[in-house]
Amino acid sequence: MIATSWQNIPEEQVFAMVEELDTRGPRYTSYPTVPVWKAPLNRDAFIKTLNRLGKDDEAIAVYLHLPFCRQRCLYCGCNAHITHDEARMHRYMDALETEVRRIASEFHFPVKHSQLHLGGGTPTYMPTKRLAQLLDLVIEKIPGAKNADRSIEVDPRVTTDEHLGLLAERGFTRISAGLQDLNADVQHAIRREYTLLEISEFIERARARGFQSVNIDLIYGLPLQTRNSWRETVQAVASLRPDRLACFGYAHLPSRMKHQQAIHEEDLPTSRDRLGMLFDAHRIFGAEGYVGIGMDHFALPEDDLAVAQNEGRLWRNFMGYTTTRGLELLGLGCSGISEFSDLFAQNISSPEVYATAIEQGHLPLERGHELNADDRVTKQIINHLMCNLEVNLPDQFDVIGSEFSARMQQAMGQVGSFEHLGLVEKSESGYHITQLGQLFVRNLAMPFDRYLAEQSNVVFSKTV
Ligand SMILES: C[S@@+](CC[C@H](N)C(=O)[O-])C[C@H]1O[C@@H](n2cnc3c(N)ncnc32)[C@H](O)[C@@H]1O
Ligand code: SF4
Repeated sequence: MIATSWQNIPEEQVFAMVEELDTRGPRYTSYPTVPVWKAPLNRDAFIKTLNRLGKDDEAIAVYLHLPFCRQRCLYCGCNAHITHDEARMHRYMDALETEVRRIASEFHFPVKHSQLHLGGGTPTYMPTKRLAQLLDLVIEKIPGAKNADRSIEVDPRVTTDEHLGLLAERGFTRISAGLQDLNADVQHAIRREYTLLEISEFIERARARGFQSVNIDLIYGLPLQTRNSWRETVQAVASLRPDRLACFGYAHLPSRMKHQQAIHEEDLPTSRDRLGMLFDAHRIFGAEGYVGIGMDHFALPEDDLAVAQNEGRLWRNFMGYTTTRGLELLGLGCSGISEFSDLFAQNISSPEVYATAIEQGHLPLERGHELNADDRVTKQIINHLMCNLEVNLPDQFDVIGSEFSARMQQAMGQVGSFEHLGLVEKSESGYHITQLGQLFVRNLAMPFDRYLAEQSNVVFSKTV
């Protein structure tokens, strides 16, 4: 019988499979993926979408990007900008507030938010007063449904009690803190230092302020990490009992992220060790009572994400995993991404160019994509595959046309060809992805992606 769980196969055998199947490919945080989106996006299509939001009394999700940080972590792949210039930060915040007002003036219906997320950069690097002003404006212009889920990403090193108090007062109940690794040599190599005691105290402070959900971000594949040092980090972090954990594979793209060039490539763990570290995280967090969410997230079993995954209704958008399928997402601020059922749009990524566009009265859109029927159905298939580990074609998928049907059948055939490796098993409606197959979800999604053939010039990160 084919082993379908990597825990039942010797690691060497899994490594050999990975070497055979390892390729580069999109992460599918969206479909169509960002490199497919074109500039400029049709402005009228964007406004038309804003005009219909809230029509059926449905709340939206709102994302605000605050790009500034105190210092650069060498591994960072986010749209983050280091500054100590308060005037620069205030100019950006003025622009962001103008964007909020301008977007809200295009609403034709009383739009509410049910999810509000602040990301970055480091939103809590902003002085509390300025953060309060932004939050009050957003809540006034896009009021929250009574129990709106409000969450924030923070760097605990710059997050004061005053920040935590302000956020709690404004209804934030979820906080996500970046930690990455606890080993002193690794921390030195990535220029980010923080002790176990400090993170433990930070979690206590957040809980004392009433945060109900604390997430910790870790990264595997960092310079000087070994499997032993990583296991120690994972074990120590598990003992802090965060509600959720994310273990991201380090994305090393020094040609795009110049500061990553300061990382010595010879210090990076091998592909085998990277994968071994992901296994270690599954073993240790599993033994500590956490449930794996998707491939690299973990949650306590009573957490909403774990419950949603159990019930086959886990979903993903640009803010990460969510329990609400198909929520329209409005992304504001530089590089902010909006994800609507009929279009994607992304704002200009430089904070200064973004602010200038706003000051000149323009919408700061950089690029986007209007989804046709083919894109919409494919997006549904890929998202369901990535989140709920099932590969099937939705009812009436063939109404789109014979070319689409033939392509989908062919993609299903390609997925089926992975059955003999134990990555998928036949199910009533298609295929179920096994635990082993979870390591290769990106490979399983790629056959459905009609744009992939045109993207030979795009550098993707490794699929595993
Ligand atoms: C916007 S950052 C975190 C918030 C905050 N600025 C901090 O550093 O604590 C979100 C997360 O992305 C992850 N991340 C950043 N760069 C990465 C990279 N190159 N590869 C993988 N994960 C990365 C880190 O785990 C980080 O905590
Ligand atoms: S990891 Fe966080 S704190 Fe570090 S540079 Fe990136 S966004 Fe800023």
